[in-house]
Amino acid sequence: MTDTDLEQKLRTRSARIAVVGLGYAGLPMAIEFARAGFKCVGLDVDRSRVEAVNLGRSPVSNVEDAEVAELRNDGRLDASTDARILDAADVAVICVPTPLTSDGGPDLHFVENAGATIAEHLRAGMLVVLQSTCGPGTTTRSLVPLLELVSNLRDGEDFFVAFAPERIDPGNLRFNVKNTPKLVGGTTPEATRAGCELYRACIDEVVPVSSPEVAELAKLVENTFRFINISFINEMALLCDRLGVNVWEVIEAARTKPFAFMPHYPSPGVGGHCIPVVPQYLQAAAHEHGLIGELIPAANRINETMPKLIVNKLERALQQRLRKPLVNARVLLVGITYKPDIADVRESAALRVFETAFARGARVTYHDPFMPSVRVNNGDVVASVDLDQEALSSVDAVVLLTPHTGIDYDRIIASARLVLDTHSGLQPREAPNVVNVWVPERLESRVLA
Ligand SMILES: NC(=O)c1ccc[n+]([C@@H]2O[C@H](COP(=O)([O-])OP(=O)(O)OC[C@H]3O[C@@H](n4cnc5c(N)ncnc54)[C@H](O)[C@@H]3O)[C@@H](O)[C@H]2O)c1
Repeated sequence: MTDTDLEQKLRTRSARIAVVGLGYAGLPMAIEFARAGFKCVGLDVDRSRVEAVNLGRSPVSNVEDAEVAELRNDGRLDASTDARILDAADVAVICVPTPLTSDGGPDLHFVENAGATIAEHLRAGMLVVLQSTCGPGTTTRSLVPLLELVSNLRDGEDFFVAFAPERIDPGNLRFNVKNTPKLVGGTTPEATRAGCELYRACIDEVVPVSSPEVAELAKLVENTFRFINISFINEMALLCDRLGVNVWEVIEAARTKPFAFMPHYPSPGVGGHCIPVVPQYLQAAAHEHGLIGELIPAANRINETMPKLIVNKLERALQQRLRKPLVNARVLLVGITYKPDIADVRESAALRVFETAFARGARVTYHDPFMPSVRVNNGDVVASVDLDQEALSSVDAVVLLTPHTGIDYDRIIASARLVLDTHSGLQPREAPNVVNVWVPERLESRVLA
């Protein structure tokens, strides 16, 4: 089979790439394309993100300003809110959000809007790649018909379409866009080939699969595997709590088996744009095809329980150690983002802890160096408080939630009256005022006040 014009352009790096959506997924991808030698333009409806990139700054916490600035200076990275940039593009890569609707189902309106925009500028020979997480069939049953309808061109004859899931893990220091294998499933063998050529320019390992559906499902399976396992270990944490056994010790013991066990650890719940959201796309697909799908709803229920467990533990610790009720207790939460060292509170379990404690009458504040303010579910915007002596000594309890690395935990423990630690149960912080959520309570019943 001979090379298409597009494949040749990709090989010589003369193809122009447009990345639609300059967020946590899109910007790192755009940077890799630009680093590989392509001219890359980011298209976003958010003017502030576009302006930041054009000023050489990063609008997302998983990309450094210097990375953007270097590629801007070299003239390889550009950003725009004007969809006409697509007129010059050979490839359009869609990296827009795929959240949930208010009733918990897939919300594809960002993908549809991005698809409609690309369709208006689609030309013969172009490759469109969907990277946003989607349910099986979204590429062939939603995106392709939209592109064809608006453009009057035919997929497989006039242009190419592929699905190549985003697998980025913001904050992961070992795996990044470049060294995380890329799956590519085209609607035709030619589309898969063109997609592979595109990603081979900047990703160490590219894995072709036989269809977009395989690639779509692979992404859903990866994240749901993690979701189910986190939920399982959280359920074990609930059981171990009742049994008076340290669940961390159980996990350590289980992981000595050299095969067929992968450790997961308990937490205040799952968070982020992916782990709690993606399984709901799989669940919707199961329903659409007449399957009940038992595991995901069960896992949802367990994860929703975890913030309540933390607040129950807080209430008990306040009562046992300070003889204080939760109502009107002053509580400072430390770490509100969904994972460490990341400025992202989407679906954060720490926020659920905030809201649960607040709803039960506590006077809640938070500190997070990555989030100067957050919106809680009653719509209020709450500002992060400084972690100074006054803040620490004026509260009844400090709850250690998301374990950011830059926080001085020793200082917190030295200054606070009571500290509820959710970080680790294996090597719990040892101090008379520290209660570890995962360590059996019968071992810690001293009264401080
Ligand atoms: N963030 C992650 O860690 C992560 C990891 C794996 C997969 N993903 C997937 O990647 C996709 C993108 O997620 P994200 O975290 O980058 O989202 P994000 O919200 O950080 O960024 C998305 C960007 O798309 C822009 N946008 C929305 N509609 C647009 C349109 N019609 N045209 C142009 N721009 C538009 C938004 O303004 C925003 O800047 C999602 O499907 C997500 O599930 C994300």
